[in-house]
Amino acid sequence: MDKLVIQGQAVLNGEVEISGSKNAALPILMGALLAETPVTLSNVPHLRDVTTTIQLLATMGTEVMMDERMNITLDSSHIHTKEAPFDLVKTMRASILAMGPLLSRFGEAKVALPGGCAIGSRPVNIHIDGMMKMGADIHIEDGFIIAKAEAGLKGADIDMHPVTVTGTENLIMAAVLAKGTTILRNSACEPEVEDLANFLNAMGAKIKGAGSPTITIEGVSKLQGVPYRVIPDRIEAGTYLAAAAVTQGCVTVTQVEPQHLRSVLEKFEEAGALITETESTITLDMRGRELKAVDIVTHPYPNFPTDMQAQFLVMNCLAIGEAKVKETIFENRYMHVAELIKMGADIELDGNVAKTKGQAKFHGAEVVATDLRASACLIIAALVAEGATVVNKIYHIDRGYERIEEKFHRLGANIQRLSS
Ligand code: EPU
Repeated sequence: MDKLVIQGQAVLNGEVEISGSKNAALPILMGALLAETPVTLSNVPHLRDVTTTIQLLATMGTEVMMDERMNITLDSSHIHTKEAPFDLVKTMRASILAMGPLLSRFGEAKVALPGGCAIGSRPVNIHIDGMMKMGADIHIEDGFIIAKAEAGLKGADIDMHPVTVTGTENLIMAAVLAKGTTILRNSACEPEVEDLANFLNAMGAKIKGAGSPTITIEGVSKLQGVPYRVIPDRIEAGTYLAAAAVTQGCVTVTQVEPQHLRSVLEKFEEAGALITETESTITLDMRGRELKAVDIVTHPYPNFPTDMQAQFLVMNCLAIGEAKVKETIFENRYMHVAELIKMGADIELDGNVAKTKGQAKFHGAEVVATDLRASACLIIAALVAEGATVVNKIYHIDRGYERIEEKFHRLGANIQRLSS
């Protein structure tokens, strides 16, 4: 299993190009199942979750072609299997996103039930209840969600609680080919939801209000493939900026959408960083500045994202002052805390609140990556630690960060992948 070895006490400086968004690319790839003619996607990141999704589409009969620049053409005109098997679903919960498009276009779907995962139980009841409200007959059998809508789905008024990103995306995809109008209330407002809606609208869907809590979808009879470019990954960008902050460096992330990171950039400024932006770049300059601890509460977009919680927790460990981080989205998203404590962090966990004292002196240690963002925070901690840190089980990182060691290396980090 691959591991990363990081020699600490580097100062990161320079520019890093941000890849396409994983969490936008996954639903958009699944959305290709809805089109009767080929879709060509660009800015799709080369990641393990993307490969898994492509594999899943291919097992159903989507013809996939890829050029050397990772432009991906998907032809779903001859789908022969409407099933997402367990061996793929178990490695990637986002496989549930096959359900909406399959049911919408073909009136049937069989998707293995995703289990809990490291960060929480993550049920899919809202996806299922919403599709049932649209007229689907759904039952669970032998670990599969079996859904049928022989006469097609019909529009419905659906209120979702709590706010769910993939739930909103799945129900949008279910509704685009349904008969009549669907209203999704309390929808997720994440940029990735809006990107999916923009893609589907480009194919002929009639979706209004994506990016706001109320989304209205008027069903259409078919969708035609188009070329589409996926938005940049706001969490990847935020992760490199956090690394610049803790190493007291100056890093510019390029090919980004600064407005997607508004709540995160405000917190960086509160933490003492100097932030400057252009239309497609963000620079974080921490040279000669003091890092201050900041209180954080994670909430759905446009508030502070759970996917940046671990990175800011590392910042707080090192910063001046005490602070509290409160995680409200997932019930078990603090597995990095035990690993950070091994490296010298002073963190007290009280339910969903992590309290830090600040000004910790990190030292290298052998640590284990437990989930994607937890892994990213361990790398950030390792960059400032005294001595070498070994991060094990980095397959989590490869699920969501494209060429991570190359990108960090270019910024001045001493980081090496060891394959075994
Ligand atoms: N929830 C339910 N019932 C449902 C669906 C969700 O109770 O049917 C609950 C969840 O258990 C959770 C909350 O609602 O407590 C929010 O979960 P959500 O459904 O929004 O999460 P998700 O769609 O499974 C996506 C991202 C995550 C990101 C979250 C929150 C993708 C593929 N994944 O997950 O990304 O943390 O939204 O923003 O888009 C990551 O990239 O590292 C990652 C975990």
